[in-house]
Order: sequence, then C-alpha cells, then structure tokens
Amino acid sequence: MSDTPENTAAEHVNAADEKPAAPAKIKAASKPTAAPKKPAAKKVAAKAVTAKPAAAKSAAAKPATKAKKSTIEVDGKTRYYEPAPEHIDVEEFRKVVMSRRSVRKFTKRPIPDAVVNDCIDMALLAPNSSGLQPWDFYLVRSNEKKKKLVKFCFSQLAAATAAELIVVVARTDRIADFAARMLREWPQDNIPTIVKRYYKLIPIHYASGPLNSFAFAKKAAFAVGGLLYPVPRGPFTESELKLWAAKSTALACENLMLAFRAHGFDTCAMEGFDDKRVSDMLKLKDGEFPIMVIGAGERAPDGVFHPQVRFDRKLFVHEV
Ligand SMILES: Cc1cc2nc3c(=O)[nH]c(=O)nc-3n(C[C@H](O)[C@H](O)[C@H](O)COP(=O)(O)O)c2cc1C
Repeated sequence: MSDTPENTAAEHVNAADEKPAAPAKIKAASKPTAAPKKPAAKKVAAKAVTAKPAAAKSAAAKPATKAKKSTIEVDGKTRYYEPAPEHIDVEEFRKVVMSRRSVRKFTKRPIPDAVVNDCIDMALLAPNSSGLQPWDFYLVRSNEKKKKLVKFCFSQLAAATAAELIVVVARTDRIADFAARMLREWPQDNIPTIVKRYYKLIPIHYASGPLNSFAFAKKAAFAVGGLLYPVPRGPFTESELKLWAAKSTALACENLMLAFRAHGFDTCAMEGFDDKRVSDMLKLKDGEFPIMVIGAGERAPDGVFHPQVRFDRKLFVHEV
C-alpha cells in the first residue's frame, strides 16, 4: 500500500483528533520526546488513557498495554503521549550490532527457553507495514523435524550445530483477517474514523484476485492517475504482496538476531534451504512463505569463519 494510506492513517492519525495531522503539528506533537524531562505542567496533562483490555495474550497483548501511557495537550488538542526513554547506552547498542556475526558453528549449549521467548518477543516488536504483522516463527523443536530441516538446509554447519532452528515465514494470506483484528484490538477506546476506513479499505487494496486480475486492474487505474500525481503502484500482484510481507518479516528477523546477540548468543540467517520441502514439513498453505531459517546458539570458538567484510560506504551512501 506504499506510502499514501499508511501515512494518512496509521502514522499521522491521533486518537484525539481524527484528521491527519498537518506536518507542523506533528513536529509540535513530537517535541515532548526531545525534552521529556520536565514537561510544562500546564501543557502536559498526564491523564491515563483508557486502554481496551487486550483481546489476545503475550505478544498481541503487549502493544495494547503500551496505550496506558498518558496524553498531552498540543495546540489545544489532546494527543497521545509516549515519550522516548532517556539514557539509552549507544555504546552497548553498538556492541550488539558490531558483534553480531553470522556464526556457522555453535557449541552444544542449549539456549534457555526464557531467552528464546524474549528474543521472539523482541522480533514481534519489529516495525511492520500497516501494522499487519505478516509473519510467523516456527521453533523447530522435534528431533525428527529438526533432522529433516538440517537436511533441507543442505546440511549447512550453521543448521546442523544450532541449538535452535527457527523458520521465519512471511504471510500474505491473512491481510484481511488482521485488518479486521486491528479494529477489534485497537488500543484506545475510540477508533479514529480514518483508521476505521483505512483498515476496511485494506482487504480491497491488497486483494490480487484470481490470476492477479484485480491487481492488474488496480495497476492500470493507478497508472492513469499516476500521470498527474503520485499514486501507490503496489503492492497489488501476488509477487508484490510476497515482497511486501518479506520486507516486514526480514525486519523481524534482524530484531531476532540482535536480541540473541544481546543475550550473549549468536545466529546465522539462512536462505540456503529447499523452501518447498520446508513448506511441506510445516504444512504451510498458499500465501505462507518461509523466507529465512535462523540458526541460533552459543558461538563456538571457531564459529566465525573470517573477519567481517563491508565495502566502502561511499558505494552505498548517497546524498541527493
Ligand atoms: C537473507 C540472508 C540469507 C543468508 N543465507 C545464508 C546461508 O544460507 N548460509 C550461510 O552460511 N549464511 C547465510 N547468510 C549470512 C550471510 O552470508 C552473512 O550475513 C554475510 O556474509 C555477512 O556476514 P556477517 O553476517 O557476519 O556480517 C544469509 C544472510 C542473509 C541476510
């Protein structure tokens, strides 16, 4: 759905003010995060927002609890207020990022369940398109399935020695379901009209139709409009939707790998696997795509095979 509807609804909308916020106002609203220490007593009304009880447990419940923050008055309007935490140690973060390597050989030490679950929970907090969370994580724990999965990963050492093997699946098959779920689980009592409209529009916008027929019709219609003004060019076709889901799911994979690193464990992302066999083993249906297998465990002393290679940043960073 590219930029347009997401910007107007999910990002810019505020529960207290159903119109999309003008850029200047967004800036004003974000000001308190820059200086949250002593919000002016008159301006900040630290009211608790009444959050709906979360309908689902664990990861789904977490975002809902976030809404029990406060509100702030900005330009005479009541806004949701979630200040950024202070005192995050960037050097500790850098240590996590810089020490993450693709580890191809792990020791036999198991990863405690609490660590695995914590890492999965952090993966589930990754940013995701339209908030639709198009992912699944399969912790492959049965010995029989694990053996098969190692084979399906072409017996790579990173898979064969991993304490945990996690198949990460991108999904395009429950977009409409999750759009409806979003409205049921919206974390504030009053769902802004624009949010309601947005999530009701999603199933239409994302439907590719038989043999991509809807997709091509939408593409043609938008292409005509696109001659005059910016329009969303996708994702409409099945392959565009697959890419759409894979983008968000890959971000979750990175969260997962950094989380393991922060807990002192290591990972190797693998796309070297027979995805048909993996799909069959997990009984995945149409619209469910295994995009990565992540092996995790304790780094063996010889688990990193060579120093990290990164080309000159000039090749990649462009100022325009
Ligand atoms: C999507 C993806 C797929 C990958 N597939 C494999 C793989 O099948 N086997 C493997 O040993 N490493 C795999 N890797 C790891 C990369 O080879 C590795 O990230 C890259 O060489 C950079 O090294 P670093 O992760 O240590 O910085 C994959 C990484 C990504 C992001």
